[in-house]
Amino acid sequence: MKFFIDTANIEEIKKAAELGVLDGVTTNPSLLAKEDGNYKDILKRICELVDGPISAEVTALEADNMVSEASELCKIHKNIAVKVPCTRDGFIATKRLSDKGIMVNMTLCFSPLQALLAAKAGAAFISPFVGRLDDISHVGMDLIEQIIQIYENYVFSTEVLVASVRNPLHVVESALMGADVITMPFKVIEQMAKHPLTDIGLEKFLADWKKVKKD
Ligand code: E4P
Repeated sequence: MKFFIDTANIEEIKKAAELGVLDGVTTNPSLLAKEDGNYKDILKRICELVDGPISAEVTALEADNMVSEASELCKIHKNIAVKVPCTRDGFIATKRLSDKGIMVNMTLCFSPLQALLAAKAGAAFISPFVGRLDDISHVGMDLIEQIIQIYENYVFSTEVLVASVRNPLHVVESALMGADVITMPFKVIEQMAKHPLTDIGLEKFLADWKKVKKD
């Protein structure tokens, strides 16, 4: 299972990379809008920090323009994965880009049918948004289960990238289902390492260690 971080914040990326378990980064226009500096410089810096797929999203809505924008984004670094939305034009652009060997991450996926089209179009990743489905009272993880089942049925190579993750339970469920990738906000990566019983246990061990005779 690959771990991506869902941020454009350099400090968060550095801290997550320090853990030694980071395989890639996902950004989107909203995440880049929170940061200072030119977006191309930020993406370049991220590519220097993490050796793995770094998602950068196109903002064009029409297929020809998506393809041109994608080509520009790819010039930033060889590890850029172009994010393309699951729209009609997005599927057309994805097919063209993947035929050219460009890594495409199809984003804003909310249905198994969109995921099926993404796989047929040759996307490297499909990003179903679980948190946003939960937000409207649909169980986001049900979508992950369906997509994994469909991809297994036909042995598609598109990787299931669980996105819009809100909490550690999304991570547990994704791992149990066998999702290929999960992209997590920094907060969730930090939460994964924590357990109150570990802290309590450590405190007790250290207190008892003081009572142990050392000579
Ligand atoms: C990542 O690829 C997505 O853009 C991101 O996970 C969306 O998350 P949000 O629903 O919290 O904005």
